[in-house]
Amino acid sequence: MTDTPLNIPLEKIPQHVAMIMDGNGRWALQRGLPRLAGHKAGTENLRRVIRASVEFGIKYLTIYAFSTENWGRPPEEVRGLMFILQDVIDKELDELNSEGVQLRHIGRLERLDPRIQKKVLHAIDLTKNNDRLVVNVAFNYGGRDEIVCAIQKIIADGIAPEDVTDELVNKYLFTAGVPDPDLIIRTSGELRVSNFLIWQAAYSEWYITPTFWPDFDKEEYRRAIEAFANRDRRFGKVSAGELQETNA
Ligand code: FPP
Repeated sequence: MTDTPLNIPLEKIPQHVAMIMDGNGRWALQRGLPRLAGHKAGTENLRRVIRASVEFGIKYLTIYAFSTENWGRPPEEVRGLMFILQDVIDKELDELNSEGVQLRHIGRLERLDPRIQKKVLHAIDLTKNNDRLVVNVAFNYGGRDEIVCAIQKIIADGIAPEDVTDELVNKYLFTAGVPDPDLIIRTSGELRVSNFLIWQAAYSEWYITPTFWPDFDKEEYRRAIEAFANRDRRFGKVSAGELQETNA
């Protein structure tokens, strides 16, 4: 997609946006509703954010839906989030597929209920040739767990220590083949990484907003991308402008 309604040059659009969809519980609490009502409202918003990502010309969207630590939540909330994942696949898959969205999963799928695994694998298979937007669903995902899993596989494959490089590690992560996130958005104002993409986020730009996830709308998403476009990404070096001045 080359057209974008964003008010920034095409080359400034982040290729990969990742999102920590936080604040569903507080959104519900503020309204005197159960926490699961917040997750349902968050799911509705996710649908809008996926559509907006397609419209904005984003190529990869990674969403943090269930962390390896979320198993410690009350059982009914865990059950509710498991149900939401299945429900989203049942209700949204055909439409997402027809819109050119490719669904992928990152995390420990094998530790989920076999029925959920089957649905997720079906969604991945059905959409595997779509190329408008790749949506990585981080479900039963933890950044440390991902690195542990990568180290285990590297050792099991008998890789020599001197062959272990950044590039090699990348190939062993759940996100193999996906570029690092350019922009990570966290809603609800918390200033934490929360075990999300801890390897891949080495040089990501962060956008943190106090807005609770169910209220994070397209206009705020646009503002986040426009703020990103105005950042000077130096990747530990100096900016191109500064370098020119130094060499002049
Ligand atoms: C964090 O908010 C949110 C989650 C742990 C779940 C995010 C899930 C969704 C948005 C639903 C979409 C899910 C799928 C599977 C597609 P919180 O509950 O920690 O909020 P709080 O900090 O206010 O309590």
